[in-house]
Parts: sequence; structure tokens; C-alpha cells
Amino acid sequence: MSHAPPSPVTETTFPIPAGVFAETVTEVVHYTDRLFRFRITRPASFRFRSGEFVMIGLPNAERPVFRAYSIASPSWDETIEFYSIKVPDGPLTEHLQRIQPGDTVLMRKKPTGTLVLDALLPGKRLYMLSTGTGIAPFASLVRDPETYEKFEQVVLLHGCRESAELAYGEELVAQTLNDPLVGEMAQGRLLHYTCVTREDHPRRLRVTEAMTGGRVFADLGLPPLDPAHDRVMICGSMAMLHDSKALCEAAGMEEGSNSAPGAFVVERAFVD
Ligand code: A2P
Repeated sequence: MSHAPPSPVTETTFPIPAGVFAETVTEVVHYTDRLFRFRITRPASFRFRSGEFVMIGLPNAERPVFRAYSIASPSWDETIEFYSIKVPDGPLTEHLQRIQPGDTVLMRKKPTGTLVLDALLPGKRLYMLSTGTGIAPFASLVRDPETYEKFEQVVLLHGCRESAELAYGEELVAQTLNDPLVGEMAQGRLLHYTCVTREDHPRRLRVTEAMTGGRVFADLGLPPLDPAHDRVMICGSMAMLHDSKALCEAAGMEEGSNSAPGAFVVERAFVD
């Protein structure tokens, strides 16, 4: 794990804009040169549904830059976790990647999003299809007992360029299976499937290819996608969303929303 240089974030004294929470960073973990996660304190009045996103920013300008971030921690958690990419010259992430415990992060008060259990019709098996930091909303959902109350099986798929980028998901799954609240529910029911595209790996292919080619189903011993019983949540880059949506539609699934639940739901992973 790498460590970022000291933060300039605490040195600024701009007023906190109206309608936002100013929260304190409690933990920062860097995974690679491109990826890190952090936690902030949770305001007592802040409520959200697992899988939703919120706008966050830094108090380093009169008019701070805000970006949408999926909340990676579950709705019952005492702190709020985010998983982020570090974009060179990204208006927010070039500063955000240097935050340290004790720094302030701004968070708008209203969470929203479609990767929520309420936007899906009842089903037996839930596929979570992600690439890169698109795993973040699923980090929230796999740690939520409601996910296991609604689905018999949960399949978390994560595709990255290199295997070092799978570390966050591997840590997440290991921790979830040992968690006092959800561990027992998740054991034997939470399946984790990873692929890597840009280095040697036993599964060197894209997650979408692993689905359409049937590799996921063969490797995990599962039947092909069935619109009657299977549900899919999708989060990644625009191109990945497009291809994932197409494979769901080809399987006869209809897209859902908060107002009209369906067989699959889509959210883009938000970066600078
Ligand atoms: P690839 O290496 O073939 O581009 P990124 O870090 O750029 O967001 O990419 C994360 C992962 O998503 C990479 O493995 C990348 O594969 C993959 N990816 C890129 N485009 C798509 C797509 N249209 N469908 C599925 N996976 C994709």
C-alpha cells in the first residue's frame, strides 16, 4: 500500500456552504497509485439506503467542487465509507487523494440513486456487476442484512485492469463473511467472481465477456441468466454500463427504477 504526501486540505478556512455537512476524516487507506478508500464521521441526522450515492467536496475553495460518490458502507454503519479513484488533475480527486485523518470533507445532505433493493422486483439471485470503483455501491449492499433477506444468493462480479486493483473487493468479501451482523447470512450465499484484463490472470477477460460467454455460470455452477429469478445491478464506466445493459436486455430483462421496479438497474460510477 502506498501513502500520499501531506495534505493541504486542513490549511484552508473557507466558510462551509449552506446545505452541506462538514465531516471529519477518520481513516484513509491507499491500495494502489490509482485507488484509495476513506471514512468520515456520520452526521446523526443523515439517513440513506444502501447502494445510494451522495455529493462530496472539500472546503478548499469559496465554491467547492462537488462530485457524486457512491456510499460504500452499509446504511447501519456508524461511519461513512467511500472508495475512490485518483484522477491526475481531477478537480476533486487531485486534492481528495491527499486527505488524512482529521481533515474535513463536505457532504451534501441528500443521498439518491437507483442501485437500491427497492428498484428491483423480487427474485432469487442478485448479480452485482462492477468494474473499477464501480464496486463501491455493492460494498454497501453486500454488508446489508436486507440484501440476504431479499435474495437467496448474491454474486459480486468485479473486473479490473490489474489484480492489485481487486484488493478492495477481496478485503470487503473477507470482512463481510466474518462480520458479526451479516457474516452468517452471507456465508455460502455471497459469491465473489473477479476478472482482470491487462495482465496475466486465470480469468483474463472483461466481466461482461465472462457473462455473455457463460464463463461465470460454468465457473460458479449457476444456470444462465433467467429473467424470472435473476436480478442484476450494474455500476462502472459508461462503456461498461452500455454493454452490461445490452446483455441484460438480451436475456429478456427490463430495466427498473425507484418508481417502477424491474429486473435490472444501472448507475454510472462517478469520477472527475
Ligand atoms: P479493458 O482493460 O479491456 O479496458 P477502468 O479502470 O478503465 O475503469 O477499467 C476497469 C475495467 O473495466 C478494465 O478491466 C476494463 O477493461 C473494463 N472495461 C472497459 N470497458 C468495458 C466494457 N465496455 N465492458 C466491460 N468492461 C469494460
